[in-house]
Amino acid sequence: MRIMTMKMNPRTDHVRRTFLAGMLAAGAMLFSSASANAEEGPILIGHYASMTGKEATFGQSTDRGIRLAVKEINEAGGLHGRKLELKTYDDKGESQEAGKAVTRLITDDKVVAVLGEVASSLSLAGGAVCQQFGVPMISPSSTNPRVTIGRDMVSRVCFTDDQQAAALAVFTKENLKKTRVAILFDQTQAYSKGLKDDFVKSFKKLGGEIVSEQAYSGGDQDFSAQLTTIRAAKPEVLLIPGYYTDGGNIAIQARKLGIGKDIPLLGGDGWDSEQLGKIGGADIEGAYYSNHSAPDQPGGNVSQFIEKFKAEYGGQVPDALTGLGYDACMVLFDAMKRCHAATGGLKGKDLAKAIAETKGYPGVTGTITIDKNRNAQKPIVMVQLKNGVPTWVANVDAKIE
Ligand code: PHE
Repeated sequence: MRIMTMKMNPRTDHVRRTFLAGMLAAGAMLFSSASANAEEGPILIGHYASMTGKEATFGQSTDRGIRLAVKEINEAGGLHGRKLELKTYDDKGESQEAGKAVTRLITDDKVVAVLGEVASSLSLAGGAVCQQFGVPMISPSSTNPRVTIGRDMVSRVCFTDDQQAAALAVFTKENLKKTRVAILFDQTQAYSKGLKDDFVKSFKKLGGEIVSEQAYSGGDQDFSAQLTTIRAAKPEVLLIPGYYTDGGNIAIQARKLGIGKDIPLLGGDGWDSEQLGKIGGADIEGAYYSNHSAPDQPGGNVSQFIEKFKAEYGGQVPDALTGLGYDACMVLFDAMKRCHAATGGLKGKDLAKAIAETKGYPGVTGTITIDKNRNAQKPIVMVQLKNGVPTWVANVDAKIE
């Protein structure tokens, strides 16, 4: 503003004008390259995921689901003839890498929207970047409530951990009929800490007792100190709200230390990986965990999806993350269509609004309605590992007060 009112001599005025013209041209270039993605050629969408590292199956499973959705969308003609193109960057399961991957997707690739992450701590990191740049993000599977709080660009297509914890508490009390629980949680993960805290609240409300609460750090190899303390507290159930690699390793060490088969092991959705049974072997057999879907659950669209997936991927049975990745991408595309019809474009704010307006979308992991906090409330499924395979036990509908 001050420049405009200043008196300038003709020479500097000319220099300033040329400079301003250059700035305007640069701005126009920036604008046109950004808008190219919204007007012609393929529409780029980004995915950041743990394709490697100790949560590698999370990223790989999700990416397969998203790719299947993109393939179907493109085969059906894309958005008015424009194809979707997916860019996936590996964040190795690390928060810093997640932030970098999302920045690159937005600033270099100019994606219209971002899908990811699975792990809540990583969605918190990537979500901050999306919020800063005004680019919509949908997490397929991060359940920590904080992921969407205060971030109007960020939504999710799954339930949250207050719901999941309530379901685990009800299942422990009503189905397993146990009241004394010990907990061993991962203090480095927002997901694990949050699920633990919420479980403690819910379980105490039901009259349950937490006999021991111990912490580890993801990737630890030796859990004997914590497990020895836990054994002394004589729990009836051991809850391990962490990810599958640690869950499998803890199961082996727990059994070795005499925490026997009469004490069921209990986990959350973070156990959802074929690697859980492979790592834990006989020691994790019979364990229960909560999840978003089970291959053999009654009703819903999941069995149809599994058949489709098996045909595409050589008979492989997808885990819940694959269905969630597929659903996240389909919900995004549904919102893109509505946004484009209403505004003629795919601007970040408009697209985020369209995503938040999703109602009754028939996903393979359940019906998806994005609520006012940009979360989806969906049924929670309990499974039990039988011969290393997660087998449906119950749907738990727990109310959160
Ligand atoms: N809910 C977990 C988290 O927020 C991620 C997860 C979801 C892992 C589903 C496996 C299956 O960190």
